[in-house]
Amino acid sequence: MRALPGAALALAALLGVSAATLEVHVASGSVSAVEGQRAVLPVWYTSASRKTPYVTWLLHQAGADPFQILTYLDGTVKVEETFLKPRVGFLHPVTSRNLSVLINGTRERDSGQYVCTVNVPDDGAGGGRNVGVVNLTVLVPPDAPACRLHGSVAVGADVTLSCSSRKGKPAPAYRWRRAAPVAQVFFPPVQDGAQGTLKLSNLSTDMSGVYVCVAENRAGSATCNVTLEVFSGSNAAVIAGAVLGSLVGFGLLVFLGLQLRVYRRKKRDGQEEVANEIKEDAVAPKTLSWAKSADAASRSSTPSLAPGASARPGGSRAPSETASILGAAAAAGPANGVPGSQGRRQLPAASLTRMGAVAVMVPAQSQAGSLV
Ligand SMILES: *[C@@H]1O[C@H](CO)[C@@H](O)[C@H](O)[C@H]1NC(C)=O
Ligand SMILES: *[C@@H]1O[C@H](CO)[C@@H](O)[C@H](O)[C@H]1NC(C)=O
Ligand SMILES: *[C@@H]1O[C@H](CO)[C@@H](O)[C@H](O)[C@H]1NC(C)=O
Ligand SMILES: *[C@@H]1O[C@H](CO)[C@@H](O)[C@H](O)[C@H]1NC(C)=O
Ligand SMILES: *[C@@H]1O[C@H](CO)[C@@H](O)[C@H](O)[C@H]1NC(C)=O
Repeated sequence: MRALPGAALALAALLGVSAATLEVHVASGSVSAVEGQRAVLPVWYTSASRKTPYVTWLLHQAGADPFQILTYLDGTVKVEETFLKPRVGFLHPVTSRNLSVLINGTRERDSGQYVCTVNVPDDGAGGGRNVGVVNLTVLVPPDAPACRLHGSVAVGADVTLSCSSRKGKPAPAYRWRRAAPVAQVFFPPVQDGAQGTLKLSNLSTDMSGVYVCVAENRAGSATCNVTLEVFSGSNAAVIAGAVLGSLVGFGLLVFLGLQLRVYRRKKRDGQEEVANEIKEDAVAPKTLSWAKSADAASRSSTPSLAPGASARPGGSRAPSETASILGAAAAAGPANGVPGSQGRRQLPAASLTRMGAVAVMVPAQSQAGSLV
């Protein structure tokens, strides 16, 4: 019997060694989840004791005191009153010794340092091995960015395209590219991936096209685009043509008025065939409507762009009449010398014919051209 205390001491010494068997294991000290998805903080423990453990999960967030979110005390799970309450719980029965926490529908504010502390009666671990720490980072994919164009879209000018998402964690990186058919990618310093800007200097007409911005982070990506339509000297000529068109229209009315008097006089003389000729010439209303739409074009020379919007005033579905004249004017561009030289451009003869211009209006044309 006297030997018992000694045996007890020996047993205590053995228990002291076995006390070191409690150990909390963490599969990953850093977990990330995309906002809205579920997150699992993988923690379990090993112990020589079969006693019911005491478990607490705490959340440490920057600038706030740590608070308890989940406990297992005296064999009972308790979810604390926190913003996590409806979404948090143990993933496995605690008796399985797997203490992993599940968080449903993660939100950005769930991010933080989650600390699991385990105590098992008869098994006191030292040195912090009864604590498991998991950092949770909730990632937010970028929302649809806003693409904008800043500056004048005239030949020789500089513009900055900007792209920005309101949401995104970590902060999205931005990449600009030019869409087909003239696919092109950009690099610093022209492109600023953090700010989302693309600087296009000394614009030329061949820089016109669709520019696409991709905002991207680890959680996802989103895009927007702008259509850049660089206005050149030949576009200026079209605007000059618009002014000219109204002059022609006005001139034609005067001309028709005069002709009408001649017609009336001649009708009195019984010369009917002149009347038919005058009817064929009467295209003035058509010319005037074209002049009006092109005039509207000249008013909006610095458009502000909505995502996906076209920089070309009036959109890409211009009236076919206008489109063909634009085409004709652009085609006439290189033949007229240095691209980008402003004003003083002659409209192609074909356009003038379409507009119903007559020889008598040619002096007015150069006058209108110099106005621009
Ligand atoms: C977890 O977050 C804390 C505080 O932000 C940091 O000190 C620690 O290094 C992080 N641990 C891991 C594994 O990322
Ligand atoms: C505990 O559960 C987590 C999550 O289900 C799992 O990843 C881990 O492997 C489990 N640990 C053990 C020891 O089974
Ligand atoms: C999380 O969601 C799953 C599936 O919707 C559900 O079975 C589980 O009970 C939820 N857990 C918590 C803690 O809300
Ligand atoms: C702008 O571009 C034109 C034609 O491409 C070129 O002749 C001119 O030197 C450029 N100007 C500057 C400042 O780079
Ligand atoms: C530009 O954006 C519009 C509208 O968001 C989209 O329909 C179009 O496909 C985009 N164009 C390109 C080249 O990405």
